[in-house]
Amino acid sequence: MDLAELTRELEALRDEAVAAAGSATSSADLDEREIDYLGKKGRLTGVLRGIGQLPAEDRPKVGAVANQVQSAIRAAFEDAAGRLRGSELASRLAAETVDVTTPGRPIRRGTYHPSIQAMAEIAAIFEQFGFQVYESPEIEDDLTNFQMLNIPPDHPARDLWDTLYVDIEGHLLRTHTSPGQIHVMRSTKPPIRALLPGRCFRYEAIDASHGSEFFQVEGLMVDEGTTLADLRGLLDQFAHAMFGAGKKTRFRPGYYPFTEPSVAFDVECLVCGGVGCAACGRTGWMTILGAGMVHPTVLRYGGLDPERYQGFAFGMGPERIKMLKHGITDLRLFLENDLRFLEQFT
Ligand code: PHE
Repeated sequence: MDLAELTRELEALRDEAVAAAGSATSSADLDEREIDYLGKKGRLTGVLRGIGQLPAEDRPKVGAVANQVQSAIRAAFEDAAGRLRGSELASRLAAETVDVTTPGRPIRRGTYHPSIQAMAEIAAIFEQFGFQVYESPEIEDDLTNFQMLNIPPDHPARDLWDTLYVDIEGHLLRTHTSPGQIHVMRSTKPPIRALLPGRCFRYEAIDASHGSEFFQVEGLMVDEGTTLADLRGLLDQFAHAMFGAGKKTRFRPGYYPFTEPSVAFDVECLVCGGVGCAACGRTGWMTILGAGMVHPTVLRYGGLDPERYQGFAFGMGPERIKMLKHGITDLRLFLENDLRFLEQFT
C-alpha cells in the first residue's frame, strides 16, 4: 500500500460516510452508522492502520489527509443529527399535540337526598329562632320511646305507633323522634330550644303515604311562661318561611298522649289556595305537623318541675313537607333511589 492508494481509500471512505450520514432515517439509525465509521473498531480506524506500513516520510502527509477526512465525516454526522432531531421533534409535537380548546368532560356532582334537603331547610328556619340541632339514638328502650312520653304499656294509643323491636330485651327502633325530648330535658337546663331531626321506623304496610322508614323533625321549647300562643306564633313564622308569606294557617284539636292540649297544624291548600280540591280532600287545608303543650308527666320524666316550667313540642315529616311543596303524591319515591326522581332536587 502506498501514499496515493491510502489517500484514495480515505477519500472514498469519506464520501461513503458522508452519503451514509445523509441518508440515515432516524437518530438511532444515524448513531449506528456513526459508530460504524468513527467508532473504536470502525472503518476509519481500520484504514488508518495501514499508515504503519508506509515509509516514515509519507506518514505525516497521510496523517493530515486522515484528519481532514475525520473532521469531514464528523461534520456530516453532526449535520445529519441536527436535521433528524429537528424533524423528529416536529413529528413528535404534531403527534402528541393537546387541543386545549376541546371542551372538558363535565364532572357529575352529587346532591343531597330530598329528605336531607328538607331537614336542612327546616333547621335553617328554626335556627333563626334560636333552636339548636340535637342528635338522639335510633335504638331506644320502651321506657323512653313510650312510657316517659305518657304512653304506659297496654295504653290504646300504642296502636298509633306499630313498633319494630330489636333483639335486645325492652329495646326497639324509635317510632318517632319524641323520645329525644326526654334526652334533651335530662341533659340541658331550660331555656331549651331544641330541634331533633332523625330517622324513624314503624311496622307499616307500605303505601303511597306510609313507609316503614322515614324521617321526622322534632321541636321542643321549654321555659318559664311558655304558652300555646308562642307555639302558634312560631309555627306561623315557619309556615310562611317554608310555604310562602301570607299563607293562612290554623290549629285544629288533635290527640297525642305526650302533649296537652294537642293540635294539628294546617296550612291553606297549596294547590287550590283554600277553595277545596282533590289534593286537599275538598277541605281547603293541608296538615303539616302535630304539636301541643308538653304534658306535665313528660316534663317530670325529663327532670323538670311542671309548676315552674312549661313547654311546647311539635313533630313533622320532612318528606311530607317536600311532598306538599312540590306536589309529590307518593312517599315511596323517597326510598327507591331512582335518579330520575332524585336529580330533580339540586
Ligand atoms: N311524635 C308524634 C308522631 O310521631 C308527633 C308529635 C311530636 C306530636 C311532638 C306532638 C308533639 O306522630
